[in-house]
Amino acid sequence: MLLDVVQPESIRAVANEIRASGRRVDILVNNAAIDPKVTAEAGLLETSRLENFPLAQWEAQIAVGLTGAFLCSQIFGAAMAADGKGGVILNIASDLSVFSPDQRLYRKPELPEHLQPVKPVTYSVIKTGLVGLTRYLATYWADRGVRCNALSPGGVQTDHSDEFVSRLSSLIPLGRMARREEYRAAVQFLCSDASAYMNGQNVVMDGGRSAW
Ligand SMILES: NC(=O)c1ccc[n+]([C@@H]2O[C@H](COP(=O)([O-])OP(=O)(O)OC[C@H]3O[C@@H](n4cnc5c(N)ncnc54)[C@H](O)[C@@H]3O)[C@@H](O)[C@H]2O)c1
Repeated sequence: MLLDVVQPESIRAVANEIRASGRRVDILVNNAAIDPKVTAEAGLLETSRLENFPLAQWEAQIAVGLTGAFLCSQIFGAAMAADGKGGVILNIASDLSVFSPDQRLYRKPELPEHLQPVKPVTYSVIKTGLVGLTRYLATYWADRGVRCNALSPGGVQTDHSDEFVSRLSSLIPLGRMARREEYRAAVQFLCSDASAYMNGQNVVMDGGRSAW
């Protein structure tokens, strides 16, 4: 079953299909995001910069990353609360929910100042907003057995340039970016009864970056 987190009808259709088949949702992971890749091309307007950031991009990214989490929580969370069996909501935030992007990471030495790419403002706003949503939901249905926590991963190394990996690694006490599988146990913990007494927290797994 696929759903589009920006379309309430699409979420409701999936929720109805699950209910009609006699099953229920015990765990909701709000993970969807539009990842605004930081890129730069000499001579073009650098739209990642705050001064140039397009309203349409702001709206599209907030719609998926933040409004989508609200809508899925509204529909699936309400169902978890309604039948009295409770459940778990996990919001996937980011280490950028606890500190601002270090824009020096994205610098291209060959470009003038006004064309320097940056991590867009939407990312910080969405991920910090998800932590607020986490605290709100953690208390809202607590008496119905619905818990909510956030997981804030640091950067996973994928196809980044060697230059970027080296710059970012120098900001991380463990001296490296994360491996995807290093978050698996944390997700299992936060979505299972192993974390039965954890509620409203933002678990930051950033190799110690926020400790520096
Ligand atoms: N990769 C990292 O280094 C990193 C670091 C910190 C936080 N995160 C966060 O972790 C989560 C997963 O990261 P990822 O690297 O796997 O991201 P990704 O971009 O690979 O995955 C995001 C997913 O969201 C889905 N999506 C986008 N719009 C949607 C919509 N309208 N409806 C339903 N689904 C939609 C996409 O199909 C995609 O599968 C994201 O929330 C991301 O912000 C990632």
